[in-house]
Amino acid sequence: MTLRRFLLPLAALCASTSLSAQTPAAPADPLAPTGRWSAYQAGSAQLPPMGWNSWNAFFTHIDEAKLMGAAQRIRDSGLAQKGYRFINIDDGWWLKRRTSDGRLMIRTDQFPSAKVKGDPSFRPLTDKLHAMGFKAGIYSDLGRNICSQAYADGSEQLPQGSAAEREVGLYGHTDQDIRLFFADWGFDAIKVDGCGIRAYSADADRVKSGQYRALPPILDPLSLSRSNIPAVKALFAEVNQSLARHNPDGDYMLSLCIWGSANVRSWGKDFGNISRTSDDIAPEWGRMLTTYDSSARRALYAHPGSWNDPDMLFIGKGDFDAGHLTEAKSHFSLWAMMNAPLLIGADLRTTPQPLIDIFGNADIIALNQDAAGNQAVMAFDADGFQILVKTLANGDKAVALFNRGLAPVDATLTAEHLKFRADRPIALANLWSGEKSSFTKDMKLRVAPRETVVFRAKGERSLAEGLYLSEQPGMVNPAVDGVVQPEPDPMIYRSIPGWRGTKGIGERPMYAGWGGAMADFTPYNQPLVIAGKGFTSGIGILANSRMEVRNRGFARFTAQVGVDDSALTADQPVRFFLYGDGRPLASTPPLRRGQPAQPLAADVKGVKLLELVARADGVTTNAVPVTWGDAALLR
Ligand code: GLA
Repeated sequence: MTLRRFLLPLAALCASTSLSAQTPAAPADPLAPTGRWSAYQAGSAQLPPMGWNSWNAFFTHIDEAKLMGAAQRIRDSGLAQKGYRFINIDDGWWLKRRTSDGRLMIRTDQFPSAKVKGDPSFRPLTDKLHAMGFKAGIYSDLGRNICSQAYADGSEQLPQGSAAEREVGLYGHTDQDIRLFFADWGFDAIKVDGCGIRAYSADADRVKSGQYRALPPILDPLSLSRSNIPAVKALFAEVNQSLARHNPDGDYMLSLCIWGSANVRSWGKDFGNISRTSDDIAPEWGRMLTTYDSSARRALYAHPGSWNDPDMLFIGKGDFDAGHLTEAKSHFSLWAMMNAPLLIGADLRTTPQPLIDIFGNADIIALNQDAAGNQAVMAFDADGFQILVKTLANGDKAVALFNRGLAPVDATLTAEHLKFRADRPIALANLWSGEKSSFTKDMKLRVAPRETVVFRAKGERSLAEGLYLSEQPGMVNPAVDGVVQPEPDPMIYRSIPGWRGTKGIGERPMYAGWGGAMADFTPYNQPLVIAGKGFTSGIGILANSRMEVRNRGFARFTAQVGVDDSALTADQPVRFFLYGDGRPLASTPPLRRGQPAQPLAADVKGVKLLELVARADGVTTNAVPVTWGDAALLR
């Protein structure tokens, strides 16, 4: 704590000159109703993006033949018809920045079609991809320099020339570059990385040697206190503005890539269509668990237009190659359940058919691309076994039973996990085996090591006349989640990434977001309980929070609210408010821990946006978990 207080102003100071000038002023009262949905809606990502990206297969060794080979296979194999439409270039495409006018030059030795009369251009390539029915993506960085320059020294596809010519990132050129990428070259998507604002401090060897110019870091994945969050947000806001300017039709996709650092797991949803929740995935089971965990409990932070991104698929290599179909299917199932982008990272020219079949499982894809846009919610979680449940647009549930470990698990799936009635039959379709079955009340099944069994389930809903908010996380946005001081999330698996092995001390909890809003649990992953009464459905959030809830045709809102029994203090009174399109609808008197749940309800017919506010009375620095028990929208 003391360290944090000491360091924050320092980091802020580093960036105060040019960066914080653009930081938007904080609204006077962040809990005041706004009547509007504040998560990112620009761009075009109503459904999680699907496609291919060059990085996992080729790192910086990307060229036109590899890229077109991927596009061709996606078309020929039928994956294109199944929704894979982005062909994205990652790091490795730059030659340099021309210093006379700042224009970016392409590595035409690797991309021959870019060699045109006048300046090199990606337009022929994007034209070709568009003609094949694809969308094209490009890659850049918030800083002056890029990730490969910091972490892939020795790679033959690094930018060339003087230090100034090798400054190919957006910093100082955002509008010029975005215009070039979208208006001139015709790209449809951009991934914006963050190594340039992380790895180029004055005392880094690569800077001291004169190779690169210093840029005081405003991002430190290992330290929140050394990350200047407003300054990072300001840079993304600049990207947002340029994208809007140069894409008048709004048809673009923005991918944020700052690896879960700077508390981005809480605010990435406000700045981009997809946002990375962790450092890089690797073709290793443990590493997949880390990146999966970084998104898995963040259902309320993912919505149509602003999805969690646990990184690209690594199916095709290592623990997910054709010799590991169980692991590959698990990886794919989990990404589908989480509404993660489905971005293939394999060399598709040589990918064996059994893996293409995994990418092509239309029933699994349909879960990811379901119109309701609800990320799966954790229904069971212990001893390396998890049950994830996703509410689909037609009222069906998708359920994934995930065995993370190396011993088989004898599991019981219950009607309660699905929020279905236990006295009525539940029909199941196994989306990997195709087998149909049914059960009433509960069902036993054995889940093999590292297997994920995925069913589509049809049953009678326990809440017949509506939907719990925790069943529709895609419609719920914790605009202010009440977290005062971001803290690393201890629930994320700490793996041994291949690139570091067991050198050093091992990975520590590093991804902030602990204490964020949760579906069906408190912000600290406890069951929801008010004065001894438990709720299996509801939203757990901290006091001093404001949630935005889209209302798609429901007539009534109901909830049982109160301070959760897990609050560490019984002294703090909290009042609950409900607003509809900015107008007050209902509220409670101040409630303390131990007081019974109070009903909070209102007619919401015709209301488009509800806001659910929990306000602590007086000045409080305590994190007070509050529970919106059984919060639901009814017909
Ligand atoms: C970072 C990103 C990766 C990839 C590389 C490129 O590490 O997280 O996804 O884009 O940079 O150098």
